[in-house]
Amino acid sequence: MLGAHSFAGRRRTIYLCLAFAAAGVCFVNLIFLTRGIDHTVIDLPGLNLLRPEHKQIEGTYAQDQHPIAGLMKEADQQWRQYDESRSTSFRETVAKYRKTYGRHPPPGFKEWYEFARTKDVYNVDDFQQITGDLRPFWAVPPQEIRKMAAKLQLSDGIAGVRLRDHEIVSHTEGWRVETLARSIGRIAKYLPDMDIAMNTMDQPRVMVTYEDIQNYLKIEESTRGMPLDAADKFTKDMDSYWNNESSSVYDDMDPGWFSVAGKPYTDSSKEACPPESPANANMTVEEADKLYKTSFGGFVSNFTGSSDLCNVGPVLGDQHGFLFSASSNTITRKLIPVFSECKVSVNNDILFPANMYFLKDERYVYNSKHDWEWEDKTDSMLWRGVTSGGIQVEDNWDRLHRQRFVKATNATEMESKSVSILSKNNKEPYELISDYNPSEFASSYFDVGFTEAWGCIPNCSFYDGVWTYKEPKQFPEQFKAKYLADIDGHSFSGRWRAFHQSKSLGLKATIFREWHDSRLFAWRHFVPMDNRFTDLYALMTYFIGVHPSASEDAFPTHGPYVPRHDFEAEVIAAQSREWAQAALRDEDLDIYLHLLLLEYGRIIDDNRDNIGYSGDGSELDHFDESHPFPPPLEPLVV
Ligand SMILES: *[C@@H]1O[C@H](CO)[C@@H](O)[C@H](O)[C@H]1NC(C)=O
Ligand SMILES: *[C@@H]1O[C@H](CO)[C@@H](O)[C@H](O)[C@H]1NC(C)=O
Ligand SMILES: *[C@@H]1O[C@H](CO)[C@@H](O)[C@H](O)[C@H]1NC(C)=O
Ligand SMILES: *[C@@H]1O[C@H](CO)[C@@H](O)[C@H](O)[C@H]1NC(C)=O
Ligand SMILES: *[C@@H]1O[C@H](CO)[C@@H](O)[C@H](O)[C@H]1NC(C)=O
Repeated sequence: MLGAHSFAGRRRTIYLCLAFAAAGVCFVNLIFLTRGIDHTVIDLPGLNLLRPEHKQIEGTYAQDQHPIAGLMKEADQQWRQYDESRSTSFRETVAKYRKTYGRHPPPGFKEWYEFARTKDVYNVDDFQQITGDLRPFWAVPPQEIRKMAAKLQLSDGIAGVRLRDHEIVSHTEGWRVETLARSIGRIAKYLPDMDIAMNTMDQPRVMVTYEDIQNYLKIEESTRGMPLDAADKFTKDMDSYWNNESSSVYDDMDPGWFSVAGKPYTDSSKEACPPESPANANMTVEEADKLYKTSFGGFVSNFTGSSDLCNVGPVLGDQHGFLFSASSNTITRKLIPVFSECKVSVNNDILFPANMYFLKDERYVYNSKHDWEWEDKTDSMLWRGVTSGGIQVEDNWDRLHRQRFVKATNATEMESKSVSILSKNNKEPYELISDYNPSEFASSYFDVGFTEAWGCIPNCSFYDGVWTYKEPKQFPEQFKAKYLADIDGHSFSGRWRAFHQSKSLGLKATIFREWHDSRLFAWRHFVPMDNRFTDLYALMTYFIGVHPSASEDAFPTHGPYVPRHDFEAEVIAAQSREWAQAALRDEDLDIYLHLLLLEYGRIIDDNRDNIGYSGDGSELDHFDESHPFPPPLEPLVV
């Protein structure tokens, strides 16, 4: 192909020049989003959001056979199961821990439990992300993990925090690691000595092959045990921590970094996928779609599956900027202890709540005084952002995810296009209409656009005439819209928590994983969207309606008819808000970090097989009596 050569050459330069900027990219994105805002926020005295606000919603669900009704019902059932299985005492919590993981809880678990309960934790069991992230490390000797963590303190794209005698004794520089050090400082008195290696790049770093991980997990299983005499304390005075000579002393520790920037990410990621998964098996797109989408309407029925690269790698490989045009991407195939804010499904980084959430930065912090009641919001879907998500050059920009989204919602662009929606043109159940022209719908109900071009090589002049840049909108203005789309940037989106807290409804397409994923239920707390956006119009016509003034008695004579489902949208938005007030609070970040570092402290402990909390939980009977658990959330719709 003519020109391919020079294109590759140009790309190399691009990666070089942007690699340095990568660390700040996510932050920069977010700044652009809300530039020029008055941040003065005066809190009302006594404003207390600790107890979820509970406001029942009046209305009734549509009695129709739309697949979304089924998905919402299923999500509610899963949620009820989750909610009803909560432990409500320390005895139950430790019993459940042992049953789930085949081990004692780590040393310090009793103090963590008191910490979490005093801070009104809603679900004291839902921390399997932590156990899952650390599981393979049971196959690595503790001393080796410590040495590697020490060695990594000075590695490229890694920052370090060092904890000794219950204090942060030093850390490297940069806003992210300073934020993390402050957060850890608040809980340091509960923690053993440790070195933490924190990823400072937007991109996750660790990707062990499928075969290796399977072996590690087998070893982990074989090491499980619950010794009766386990000591509830960490080992003191171990060696192999970071010191000024770490970089030369631990010569045998090689993180094994190599760059995959400029190469298709899915070439590397498929090696971390099961042989029978779409990433490796010869599967058609339709077959792969069945793993996470409804066969009728193509709605995401398994959100985890929709962001699993082993499923979606083949179809998203050249449709998501992270997968083909990341600004930098330095990874390793070795299982090394790197703490990251987000990762994709194939990574073995250890997740921690992103520093962004701890910053209390007004630009991302939700403030209920600047929100509207559902009925006062507009019937529209809003999105603003910069052109981030990957490095853009003249012949790749139209495949990046944000760019595809902005085009797919653009009425002019859609004039000549057809999409699929589900329509109800007679008394029968819904039928698929695959030639719906969505231009008018987009023009009436979407307010989507870039605020600024950014991250182009050599410059963004190839966007001239392509976009009309729109004014950035600060949160209060965004919350005027009922529907808020959330699309990945270079990495995870820092707005997502505020979207949950708000009274608007979030629609999410992502390939990234975060600390809180197991507690957020698609179709109960948010609306999942396919990363190809093929379901966008079917979703939005369902909620907003097409010819909504028509009815069962008077079907429109031309075009499709989709009854409006505003009530369903309001319900999910309200459930999401209530849940965010119970499970995505600032306190929940500390509670997560505290347990994460106890578990990490155990995995690096030379006596890890013989330490842990071995009691039956009765020590805290009295505490439990005087600290009742938050009562279950009442249904919002009766
Ligand atoms: C490491 O170096 C710093 C400054 O160079 C010094 O203050 C500190 O005492 C040294 N620590 C050790 C353990 O040698
Ligand atoms: C994949 O499957 C298709 C259709 O089933 C077949 O034509 C093709 O040869 C297969 N490719 C490989 C690499 O097995
Ligand atoms: C959903 O997808 C995930 C990830 O691909 C998979 O592990 C899980 O089994 C799926 N769940 C169901 C119910 O199919
Ligand atoms: C942007 O790049 C194009 C193509 O290389 C070049 O012709 C143009 O002069 C550049 N514009 C600016 C403002 O630098
Ligand atoms: C929508 O597309 C048209 C035609 O390509 C373009 O002129 C316009 O600027 C686009 N609008 C936005 C908001 O980007």
